[in-house]
Amino acid sequence: MADLEHIYADGRKKLEKRLTPFRLLHSISTSDIAGLMANVYGVNNEYAVLAGLLHDWDKNYTDAQLMKRAEVFNIDLTDDPRHLASLLHAQTGACALAKEYKDLPAEIIQAIARHTSAATDMSELDMIIYIADMIEPLRSASNLQHLRTLAGNIPLEELFIKCYRDTLEHLIRRQRYIHPGSVEVWNAYAARKHGKTGKG
Ligand SMILES: [Fe+2]
Ligand SMILES: [Fe+2]
Repeated sequence: MADLEHIYADGRKKLEKRLTPFRLLHSISTSDIAGLMANVYGVNNEYAVLAGLLHDWDKNYTDAQLMKRAEVFNIDLTDDPRHLASLLHAQTGACALAKEYKDLPAEIIQAIARHTSAATDMSELDMIIYIADMIEPLRSASNLQHLRTLAGNIPLEELFIKCYRDTLEHLIRRQRYIHPGSVEVWNAYAARKHGKTGKG
């Protein structure tokens, strides 16, 4: 069985070198919130704490470095690379961590890989890491206070959909590119909620 406490201690030490001081604090804060959310929603606490800590493992690489790492890890780069780079640290980080810690549970690796772009079939752990990354208290965006008050008070998937909606709204308001995969995720959850597709 994986010694998750050891991975946490070792990972935290390594993150001190990999991340800026602020990003390290963000990672620890995400880990703390993920742990609290896991307790409230009945998800494996150790997995959530560890995935939260490690989620930004590759965050400090430049776009060019991430593109190179993606090639090394055989990550699909068929989309326009200019629009892909901001999402890539999640996937390259997950691949790098799987190599670094051979015992790291697949559920943790998946949650880390999905923390930027999400997926159409998010597990509870995936959703917790996505949300914790967004609402952890060191983030200052004005819309987050509302989401924080909802955490623990509404079903996990409902909270995830609200967070995902806010992310997409933010991109639209700033006239930023939305990755087709992100639209696919949104449509999957919208269809599930309304039980149909299209207008009406
Ligand atoms: Fe990230
Ligand atoms: Fe993050």
